[in-house]
Amino acid sequence: NQYCDAGFEYESGSATACGSGTAPSKLLIKGGTVVNAHHQQLADVYVEDGIIVAVEPSITVGDDVKVIDATGKYVIPGGIDPHTHLDMSFMSSGTIDDFFSGHAAALAGGTTMHIDFVIPVDGSLTAGYEAYERKAKKACMDYGFHMAITKWNDDVSREMEIMVKEKGINSFKFFMAYKGALMVNDELILEGFKRCKSLGALAMVHAENGDAVDEGQKRMIELGITGPEGHALSRPAVLEGEATGRAIRLANFVNTPLYVVHVMSIDAMEEIAKARKSGQRVIGEPVVSGLVLDESWLWHPDFRTAASYVMSPPIRSKGHDKALQAALATGVLQLVGTDHCAFNSTQKALGIDDFRKIPNGVNGIEERMHLVWDTMVESGQISVTDYVRVTSTECARIFNIYPRKGAILPGSDADIIILNPNSSFEISTKSHHSRLDTNVYDGKKGKGKVEVTISRGRVVWENNELKVTPGTGRYIPMQPYSYLFDGLDKKDSTYLSSLKAPVKRAKSSS
Ligand code: URP
Ligand code: ZN
Ligand code: ZN
Ligand code: ZN
Repeated sequence: NQYCDAGFEYESGSATACGSGTAPSKLLIKGGTVVNAHHQQLADVYVEDGIIVAVEPSITVGDDVKVIDATGKYVIPGGIDPHTHLDMSFMSSGTIDDFFSGHAAALAGGTTMHIDFVIPVDGSLTAGYEAYERKAKKACMDYGFHMAITKWNDDVSREMEIMVKEKGINSFKFFMAYKGALMVNDELILEGFKRCKSLGALAMVHAENGDAVDEGQKRMIELGITGPEGHALSRPAVLEGEATGRAIRLANFVNTPLYVVHVMSIDAMEEIAKARKSGQRVIGEPVVSGLVLDESWLWHPDFRTAASYVMSPPIRSKGHDKALQAALATGVLQLVGTDHCAFNSTQKALGIDDFRKIPNGVNGIEERMHLVWDTMVESGQISVTDYVRVTSTECARIFNIYPRKGAILPGSDADIIILNPNSSFEISTKSHHSRLDTNVYDGKKGKGKVEVTISRGRVVWENNELKVTPGTGRYIPMQPYSYLFDGLDKKDSTYLSSLKAPVKRAKSSS
């Protein structure tokens, strides 16, 4: 089956193409403002067989070419979401958007690629990779993989090399929280960071002090606070700041670049700002929930509503959102993810009597492009070129797939969206394309609408209608040694720079 309309049903296993019109081999986007991170210009974009062939004014074509009028609109690279969890087993549950429904939602919102986190199986990276390879068979947009490291031994170290050299993975994530599950200690982090450095792979961290969170949770339960508000109270921003600072210092000690996922607080953001100011290569990723929501939802009297906002690190109190926006606008933080990790009300209800059992995660893969446009561009905080940078280009550069992705240039993949700045969007649980029965952005309205999404040359979203087919998405392998590693060792670890040669001392005779 396939999506052909806004209201759709999906059954796996009986995929058919949705009309030949969805995959024209030749496409011309006429009259729009083509925006890249480095430049914008009025130009036409000509696409053949999924690849951008030409970007220049007044391209003329024959009758066999589908022409899309983009006059008065922006023609921009499709979004790349650096942080998602599709079809993931987590906290006694499994995320309900898989590599088809999650992709369909993404495409309807203007995102044409994402990078998902492979979770090892019993610590085995190979088994984890193979499992995700199977999950992704139904993909309908392009995707790449990061990989989590959840335990340490010689096999894991060897498998990291295989992942990098043979499987196209160039980043590994270390969870500093989720004690008793995914959490790793400092010793493992040091081993892992060293291995990342030796392979040219980017180290990533979920930065919260997991031991302290565990203590905070016990305190809440002792106080009789068992509802979703206990989630926020048990893991305050100071614990995110501490772990962020610790990860940054350990990365400095190893002299390897670091990527901090879901920066949710001023505390964590300021650690990143300080490190960057001192010259350290640290990347900070805010997520949409942290940029546009605040924690008051966790106090909502309706459990179902409150629980839908439970994610880690928690959505913070008012003020953190604006500070994170400013940090994104000024380059302290570099790109926006979602951490799309969808659990429906039934799954969230596992924690009805104990917030510790509420599966952690919120949606966002479909909403990111609209909410970042409205919050950052429409409000005047960033330019349209910077919008392209934070939603697409910077992700492509960090994960070494630029300019195949993240650009509208001859030779790039034709992942393109047309955004109408004069049209508006409204987010609703009823009309979204995720399988979720809730939406943390329900009711949000704003300016700027993704009217067309083109995925590798196929028009998959037009006139509010999705046309996608399972199995059409491709795996995008990512090579190690992104720009973040360039010249890194010319400036070696500060800890050794003062040691020119071993100090010679005379043997004492006393
Ligand atoms: O609450 C969250 N963030 N769930 C997904 C797993 C993670 O920590 O990224
Ligand atoms: Zn159809
Ligand atoms: Zn995380
Ligand atoms: Zn995540």
